[in-house]
This record gives sequence, structure tokens and C-alpha cells, in this order.
Amino acid sequence: MTTSDKGEAAGLVGRSLNEAMHFHAMGDLDRAEKQYVQVLSKEYRTTDILPLLASVVAKRGDAEAAIYYWDKLLAIDPRHLTGYLEKANLLRGMGKTAEAITCYEIARTIAPENPLIRNNLAVTMAEFGRKDDALQEFNHVLRLQPGNINAYHQMRRLSTSIVPFWHVAMMNDVSRNDAFEAAILKAIEMRGKDAQILDIGSGSGLLSMMAARAGATNVVTCESVPVIARMAEAIVADNGYSEQVKVVSKPSTGLSVGKELSAKAEILVSEILSSDLLAEHVLSTFEDAQSRLLTDDAIVIPQRAAAIGCLVSSQTLTDYSHVKTVSGFNVQRFNGLAPMALPIHGTMSDWTRLSDDFEITSVDLTRKTFEAELRQVAIPVTTSGTVVGVVQWMHVDLLDDITFANHPDDYHDGGWLQILHPFPEPIAVEAGSSLNLLVGHDKKSLIVLPGPQKRAASKN
Ligand SMILES: C[S@@+](CC[C@H](N)C(=O)[O-])C[C@H]1O[C@@H](n2cnc3c(N)ncnc32)[C@H](O)[C@@H]1O
Repeated sequence: MTTSDKGEAAGLVGRSLNEAMHFHAMGDLDRAEKQYVQVLSKEYRTTDILPLLASVVAKRGDAEAAIYYWDKLLAIDPRHLTGYLEKANLLRGMGKTAEAITCYEIARTIAPENPLIRNNLAVTMAEFGRKDDALQEFNHVLRLQPGNINAYHQMRRLSTSIVPFWHVAMMNDVSRNDAFEAAILKAIEMRGKDAQILDIGSGSGLLSMMAARAGATNVVTCESVPVIARMAEAIVADNGYSEQVKVVSKPSTGLSVGKELSAKAEILVSEILSSDLLAEHVLSTFEDAQSRLLTDDAIVIPQRAAAIGCLVSSQTLTDYSHVKTVSGFNVQRFNGLAPMALPIHGTMSDWTRLSDDFEITSVDLTRKTFEAELRQVAIPVTTSGTVVGVVQWMHVDLLDDITFANHPDDYHDGGWLQILHPFPEPIAVEAGSSLNLLVGHDKKSLIVLPGPQKRAASKN
């Protein structure tokens, strides 16, 4: 080709490009695409044409084709930030979240201080369930843009979904805290300040700091939720106990002696009792700790936990847990999906007790292993009424005579709520009779159900 031929060809391609851009601007995407493809085939300004072509095909809804063109561009220019960003956005739109994250992560390595990339990465990680990574990304966005309200809101939304609502109220629960501190002090008195202490479930690091304040030199605490573990580490440092307390960001099942723990622990302290006693997996956690992490004669705090309850009647709680007719429709069948345990504020809910307090179940937490339990009990009815279920709370023996309870008569504003265990159907009862219940646990949750009522029908 002569020089003048080449010039003519370049002029033609340039005109095609102008036309393509004109069609593009007019929204005539099909013709724009055709023209861009033609220009591209002449290998003319390829790195300028590929983003335009990707944008046209993306606009007409062909994400796959757009990605194809972005990939072509990235093969030529592997540090093309917009290429990664746009490709990631397309992948995210297609629901290919994991691949989108990989793309944003590459973009992050190219421009680590770009808030848009970090924000998009955070949002996508959150969508993918990588909440802790997302939190750290939003944190970074806020460091770059302290006034970014959206990032701030997303961070709060995420941490709220990770950290349970009761955590702060629990930390402010003075009677709980004092009881635990008394037991910790006693255990240190018994085993000495150099005893290896294991605190399962750091939270804020409170129980470990109590031990350190009492002079304990060798405290290891583990926390399964990374954002809480990071917080505990910072709080322990704020209070000057980093030398004595090692915070490990792992579930207790991930600890081993010789690694995180220099020796088997002589004292275990752990407050992982949920309002319904077992839902935080206290039994499997203690079983595992007993089998691997504790000396044979380790002191275990708490030593025993019991679920106590009474029969109750209450229109409020019935409406909270049962349904019959709604807007003229019979929706009673939905009771089959109603919750089996409902947190309630015992002092704020309006309910009447129909029996004295009785023990639902209790667990000896010093045991090496635990078995599920189910037994039938006959509960004497003290007041006639309709039983909606059992309101339940806890009585905890921490060490020796140090105890703690969240009895609804005199416990409020603490971290624990009381729990309503609704019956499948409310049951009418008469004072002087007794009601048969099946009570126990399956190691993870309490069982509180009405039993066969034949014998209960006869009055005492
Ligand atoms: C009820 S809070 C108590 C926090 C703190 N010990 C206190 O008393 O204030 C329990 C904490 O233990 C953590 N946790 C529960 N089971 C755990 C386990 N097996 N290993 C590590 N952390 C655990 C939870 O994420 C939660 O932060």
C-alpha cells in the first residue's frame, strides 16, 4: 500500500469512528456497534474503541459480549482500572458475585486508595456473605472519606447483623458482671495467679480483664466473631492488660494446647449462656474444651445452669404466639410455623402465672460429656386459666455459693430476656389439677411441650 493509500484508509476508518460515535450518542446502539466493530477490525485505536464497544453492547443488555470486549482490553492493558471496574460491575449484575469480587480485588491492587473501588468491593462482599471482609472495606472507605454517610450506614448495618442486639445490654448487666467477677476471683485464689486461664467467648474481653485485674498473668481468650475479637484486643490494650491477656480470633474448637494455649487450662470461664440456656452451643463447646483444652481437675465457671419456668396465661403472649382468624380468614394452620421459643421482656409483658416455679432442666457444666434429656413432669396448677405456654428463665451456679438468676420478678434491663415456650394450642386448666409436660433438651435447645393429659385430668 502506498503512503497515500494508507492515508486514505486511515481517513475512512476515522470517518467510520465518527459515525459510530454519532450513532452511539443518538442511542442507535445497533449501528454504533456495527461501526465500532468495523473500526476495530482495522486495528485502529483499539484501546479507545474497546471501552466504547463494551459500553454499547452493555447498554443493549448483552453483558457477556461487554465482558468479552473488556477482557480483550485487559489482555492488552492489564492495569486498565476502568476495565476491571466495569467488568466487575457487569459480573455483579449477572449474579457472578465471586468473580466480581476477584475483579474488584485486582482493581484494588492497582488503586488501593480509590474509595469507589473499595465501596463497590465492600457492597459485593456483603452480598456474598463475606460480612467481616466487607466491614473492613467500609472501614477503609471511611478512612478515605470520613463524611461518607452511606459507608458509615452500611458499616453499622453489617456490624448490627453480626453482633447480637443484646451484647451492650449484657455488658451493662451489673449483677451478671459482679457474679462472674466474684467467681473468677475465687478461682484465682484457689489455683494461683499463674494458672493458665481460658475464657471462651471474649466479647469485649470483660471476663479476661477481670482475671487480669485480679493478678492473673496467663489468660487466653478466644472469640469466634472476628470483628468482636478485634474489638476485644483493642479494649484489652486500652485498659493496659495486653501483657496478661492474649486474644485469639478463633472459635474455641480451633484452639490447641501448645499453640494458642501454652498449657492445658486450669480455669475455664465462659459466659455463652443464651436466654434459653443452650442456643449458644454451650454443651458442645464445653465438651470440646474438656476433651482437649482443660486439665482433668480444671475449675469450670459456671458450674451448673438450670432453666426454670412457670405456666402462664396471657392474651398479649397468646397474640404473640398463636393465630386464628385474621381479617375474616381462617389462618389457624399457620400455627404450624409459629416459633417454638420467643424472647419476651418478663417484667414488661402482661402475664399471669398459673403455677409455682419449676425446673425444666439443668446441666452440670463440670461434666466431661452431656446427654440429651427428656422426661415427663406433672405441674400442679395454682390458678385456673388458659395456659399459653411456659415462661422460662435461668438460674446459674457460677462457683461454690456464687449464683446468678434472671427471675422475671426481679430482673430487668439486663442482657438476658425471658423466653416464652408457647404450646401448640393454649390449654384450659383448673386450680388444683396438674398439667403434664414433656421437658428436657436435645443439647442445643430446650424442649417444653404439653405431655399426654389423661392423668392430669384427675384433680389432686
Ligand atoms: C454472651 S457473650 C459474652 C462475652 C463476654 N465473655 C462477657 O461476658 O461479657 C459470648 C461471646 O462468645 C462468643 N462465642 C460463643 N461461642 C464461642 C466459641 N465456641 N468460641 C469462641 N467464641 C465464642 C460469641 O461470639 C460472643 O461474643
